[in-house]
Amino acid sequence: EKVVLAYSGGLDTTAMIPWLKETFDYEVICCCVDVGQEEELDGLEERAKACGASKLYIEDIVDDFCDNFIMPCVEAGAVYEHSYLLGTSMARPAIAKKLVEIARKENAVAICHGATGKGNDQIRFELGIKALAPDIKVIAPWRMTDKWQMDSREAEIEYCKAHGINLPWSMGKGYSRDRNLWHISHEGLELEDPSKAPNYSSLLVLSVTPQEAPDKEKEVSITFEKGIPVAVNGQKMKVSDVIRTLNKLGGENGIGIVDIVENRVVGMKSRGVYETPGGTILMAAHDQLEELCLDRETMENKKKLASQLAQTVYEGKWFTPLREAIQAFVESTQQFVTGEVKMKLYKGNIIKNGTTSPYSLYNESLASFTTGDLYDHHDAEGFITLFGLPLKVRAMKLQEVAKS
Ligand code: ARG
Ligand code: SIN
Repeated sequence: EKVVLAYSGGLDTTAMIPWLKETFDYEVICCCVDVGQEEELDGLEERAKACGASKLYIEDIVDDFCDNFIMPCVEAGAVYEHSYLLGTSMARPAIAKKLVEIARKENAVAICHGATGKGNDQIRFELGIKALAPDIKVIAPWRMTDKWQMDSREAEIEYCKAHGINLPWSMGKGYSRDRNLWHISHEGLELEDPSKAPNYSSLLVLSVTPQEAPDKEKEVSITFEKGIPVAVNGQKMKVSDVIRTLNKLGGENGIGIVDIVENRVVGMKSRGVYETPGGTILMAAHDQLEELCLDRETMENKKKLASQLAQTVYEGKWFTPLREAIQAFVESTQQFVTGEVKMKLYKGNIIKNGTTSPYSLYNESLASFTTGDLYDHHDAEGFITLFGLPLKVRAMKLQEVAKS
């Protein structure tokens, strides 16, 4: 029987190869899903095979991740607990989808992942797998404390050595990180104490701090068609390249660094730092355009659904009717979210620099103080009489009661 292992090439998932063979007698198919983590993929196949895997798949899903997981959340404006742009949360179901596809192709009976029993990722992987392949068994070694008896890096290295795997692993404890095209997350070390400031100089990977950013602002423009970014500074490109381009600009200008104590699904609070340079710019640009193109009530309802979508995605419920329905609503609001957004990036700030849209609902003659023929000042009087009627009636009643 075969198991598909979500493989990163790191120590944890490498130790899982001999462990899966020894513990369950499985044939191990490794699958490394590329979501833009920029890890060295050269030599990964040799490594996996030398450790006892029968095959390694390297699957690039960056464009699927951008178009079908990131963009629906950007269009919705989904943000978890006011600041987390869901980078890891969106990637897990995208990875789960690919793992299931490989498992089917290989006729595997199980999928194994390296997420711990304390985090959100286990939930996201497993709800994804359940929704797409309810018959496939999930193996989460970190939760099988009776069988997975390695409780430190040293123990894992020992175990690998005992199974003929001699690789140069680093011993030192580092941050726990998760990177993809959208973001990088950092947890652990000094971050575990919320009274301490993050040690930014050793922590940041995609960006500089606002203090280190240039003293000169950087102008950028983003063109959207029906809610989707199609060009940066007038240059047409696919969404993944928009994000790459904005990551560079945002990173250089200290945009999108978030230090947050967030509530995990499993009940605990956890402290992390996120770098989402391009994503932060993209979401701000999309908001800026919607200000012109959406009416107030649509915006308001969309905002409620955005927070519901963020919660749903954070909790790993990607493949659900609710996520699909919210996405359908959002998509229908994007029909006229077309136009150009200009902004200036300056030391961690995004400053508006003008917005245009062929569908702008902003009407200059209506908004300006000179009188046009669309709006008669006299109409306002009757409007206020009716609009203020309930509070006037109540005030009259209070007066009456006070006198009696
Ligand atoms: N706390 C974040 C989330 O739940 C980031 C998780 C990072 N995962 C990791 N394996 N380091 O989305
Ligand atoms: C993990 O525990 O595997 C990483 C953190 C998380 O999933 O929230």
